[in-house]
Amino acid sequence: MRFLLVSALCLMVTPVVAQEAPPAFNKCLACHAIGEDAVNKVGPRLNGVVGRPVGSLDDYSYSQAMLAARDSGVEWNRQNLTRFFKLPKHFLPGTSMAFAGMTQRAEIDALIDYLASFDADGARIAP
Ligand code: HEC
Repeated sequence: MRFLLVSALCLMVTPVVAQEAPPAFNKCLACHAIGEDAVNKVGPRLNGVVGRPVGSLDDYSYSQAMLAARDSGVEWNRQNLTRFFKLPKHFLPGTSMAFAGMTQRAEIDALIDYLASFDADGARIAP
């Protein structure tokens, strides 16, 4: 009985525990890091990216295309991230992100939820 109770509690608690990286994030890890120790790699670190202007880290060299988009006020809201992840070179012609894109909407949504769970310092935000 106690075992059952403990199991049930674990099930209830699991969704509150910080979400693990979705499988799709493996496609990004060659070039990106996220979290408290994240550094810029080939691509910029992704802490706090959801909701901020595109191309806005001071210590990363973005493409001219990304800087032009930033200067015209483009932000990484969910809609723009979705379009970028589907076809990066279509959303932002001239981007230096060498990634073909991904088609599955559920995969993209899970990815954005995961990115949104980190603040600008790489700390986890409660869901
Ligand atoms: C081959 C390397 C590579 C891969 C793979 C890659 N990226 Fe990128 N990413 C980059 C580069 C380089 C940039 C900067 C692009 C620019 O300046 O035009 C970038 C930019 C970004 C940005 C904009 C960041 C900002 O500060 O504005 C986001 C968001 C992003 N990538 C997310 C992802 C995600 C999520 C994946 C996996 C689905 C991914 N990237 C896969 C190299 C990569």
